[in-house]
Amino acid sequence: MNKQTNLQKLHDLKAKSRLGGGEERIKAQHSKGRLTARERIELLVDKGSFREMDAFVQHRTHDFGLDKQKFISDSVITGWGTIEGRLVYVFSQDFTVFGGSLGEVHAEKICKIMDMAMKSGAPVIGLNDSGGARIQEGVVALAGYADIFLRNTMASGVVPQISAIMGPCAGGAVYSPALTDFIFMTRNTSYMFVTGPDVVKAVTHEEVTQEELGGASVHSEKSGVCHVAADSEADTLFLIRKMLSYLPQNNMEDPPFVVTDDPLRMDETLDSIIPDDANKPYDIKDVIRPIMDGGQFFEIHENYAQNIVVGFARLGGHSVGIVANQPAVLAGVLDIDASEKGARFVRFCDSFNLPIITFEDVPGFLPGTNQEHHGIIRSGAKLLYAYCEATVPKLTVVTRKAYGGAYCVMSSKHIRSDINLAWPTAEIAVMGPDGAVNIIFRKELEKAKDPVARKAELVADYREKFASPYVAAERGYIDDVIEPKETRPRLINALEMLSNKRDTNPAKKHGNIPL
Ligand code: HXC
Repeated sequence: MNKQTNLQKLHDLKAKSRLGGGEERIKAQHSKGRLTARERIELLVDKGSFREMDAFVQHRTHDFGLDKQKFISDSVITGWGTIEGRLVYVFSQDFTVFGGSLGEVHAEKICKIMDMAMKSGAPVIGLNDSGGARIQEGVVALAGYADIFLRNTMASGVVPQISAIMGPCAGGAVYSPALTDFIFMTRNTSYMFVTGPDVVKAVTHEEVTQEELGGASVHSEKSGVCHVAADSEADTLFLIRKMLSYLPQNNMEDPPFVVTDDPLRMDETLDSIIPDDANKPYDIKDVIRPIMDGGQFFEIHENYAQNIVVGFARLGGHSVGIVANQPAVLAGVLDIDASEKGARFVRFCDSFNLPIITFEDVPGFLPGTNQEHHGIIRSGAKLLYAYCEATVPKLTVVTRKAYGGAYCVMSSKHIRSDINLAWPTAEIAVMGPDGAVNIIFRKELEKAKDPVARKAELVADYREKFASPYVAAERGYIDDVIEPKETRPRLINALEMLSNKRDTNPAKKHGNIPL
């Protein structure tokens, strides 16, 4: 073969590989409102940075006529590129080839880039769009999934792993994304379920659509499986880029430091944000945003368990994780979902060296048989455990209520929080004044001539004595009581003071978080 023919062959093979399952299937993909695997990668990584690997790989199956259907590069595109100049590894399932189904070589391609990501300490992003295990390959396909699951688990806490669901993701295939740190979904065109509508109908006689069973809305509002839901594929990919800007490349690195705002800036609106009536709600995001650099807050699980708010932001240029009770939803109470949402986020931050800033206004754990019977004890313990074991810098601001067990859980001084600040409106007590007076003065109130007036007196007395930050501050459980407007500079100062913080946990194989 002469030189010209060699080059021609290379060009032909690459062109064939780029066509995936062919023009017709690409058209079908577009007609469903979805992009192709390669178009998605182009939107995800910096322009021109993607380097594909294994573009010549082909499956080795002969059964069911597969030997007559070969597609160069099979049903997944893999490689690396950069996002804002930083290395990322990417796999993108190609639905135009065998419905993006996963067989032996598809899994091998994914495992290869995951192994490389672990060696070079860079995030892995998986763009999922697949009919699941390649049925014709049988157990070999299942083995491929298991190989990926193992790598997801080994990579957990070493490099950030992000999954985007951009089409079907069903059966056991859901467990690779579920093992990763964050799941992004595109509204109306993606779905995830362990068993699809047909099986559900056969087993439980329920009739549901794919969207109702496992669409982005369900998973971002009800199940909590999805961390970020976006309206389009382009938005989904843009949001992944944005989230990565807060994260380090791996667990040995500090997160990026990016100065965009004045560290000494104060915000006067905070001084009047807490309503006079302690039972009135306010939106904790109106506290978070003015304190953070540029008012920016990248929220995770925005529509799930909204009584707790978690997400990423920058403070004086430092990336931080925020965990905040939300008085505007269920009075900010901790329930099962909120505890699990908070716990998972705290553990992510601790794995990847992100200081945790906690804003606290919590009336306690949610009472009721529903919560008790579904295990609020076990779930609340997850959040407690996560905070206790975290060794990153931990800063807490009590804006209003810090009651009961929730006081201990929400990054109290006793569980190794580094700096705990309170606003003058803080109420740190075993419970709210009303409940406390009802219990400790029940007999006296029964006998009182005017129980209403007497109760009001006792409540006022209790509030004066206990529902303030000063009893806790007298003991050093609160390091300082500050004016709300100073919160930003004070937090930034504390972060800088803690920038060389070193803390460890006792040597052990691993702890036994109450899962
Ligand atoms: C082989 C598959 C496939 C699969 C789809 N295709 N899924 N080929 N194995 N799992 C092929 C189709 O035969 C078709 O080929 C092409 O991909 C496009 O599929 P369509 O059905 O035409 O597309 P659409 O109508 O959009 O439906 C998409 C779908 C459906 C809902 C995903 O294809 C489907 O239900 N697939 C099977 C899903 C499934 O049961 N998978 C196994 C799950 S068990 P042609 O040549 O006709 O275009 C599992 C276990 C994992 O995944 C366990 C891990 C522990």
